[in-house]
Amino acid sequence: MNISKQIQFPNRFILVVILVLLGLIFSLMMLGVYLSSVGQGLSCLTWPTCPNGFNFPPPEYFLEHFHRSLVLVVAIILYSFTVFSSLKVGNKNFKVKLIIASLLLTTQIILGWVMILTRLNPIVVASHLSTAVALFGILLVTLLSVYNELQSNNVKN
Ligand code: HEM
Repeated sequence: MNISKQIQFPNRFILVVILVLLGLIFSLMMLGVYLSSVGQGLSCLTWPTCPNGFNFPPPEYFLEHFHRSLVLVVAIILYSFTVFSSLKVGNKNFKVKLIIASLLLTTQIILGWVMILTRLNPIVVASHLSTAVALFGILLVTLLSVYNELQSNNVKN
């Protein structure tokens, strides 16, 4: 069995995974701004999980718990998709975009920790918002480039 066999690029599976990631990150951004506006930003002072761990959270930090649980889902999908693509996809530009997205996600997770540590230092909160926008942006660019390549392949065939 040849484990280094590459998969066809682009394909619909890749497009769907990026679309799902974009939807999750958009929801995370909405949730983050909402929890910040209702003043729940410092409702849970532990990291990476809230004090309830993986149990159902009390209302005091339900939103913050939900924010972090969604991050876990995004992290599992994005990191494993980046590793999978590095091994199985031949397109270098696509792989570079995914690696940048993974680095931005790592930065975002660290910034989440620093935000709590510094009790919502305004510069750190601003960086958290900017990194979220950059992460959304790089995935949007990735989606559009995969979509364009799929379209041009369809025209050629
Ligand atoms: C993909 C990952 C993440 C995204 C896209 C994201 C996005 C956001 C956004 C857009 C906000 C609103 C910022 C504002 O009001 O200007 C926010 C707030 C917040 N996020 Fe995240 N976040 C992520 C990961 C995390 C992680 C891992 C943590 C902590 C472990 C975290 C903790 C917080 C906290 C405490 C706030 C409230 C800040 C405040 O009250 O001003 N976030 N997030």
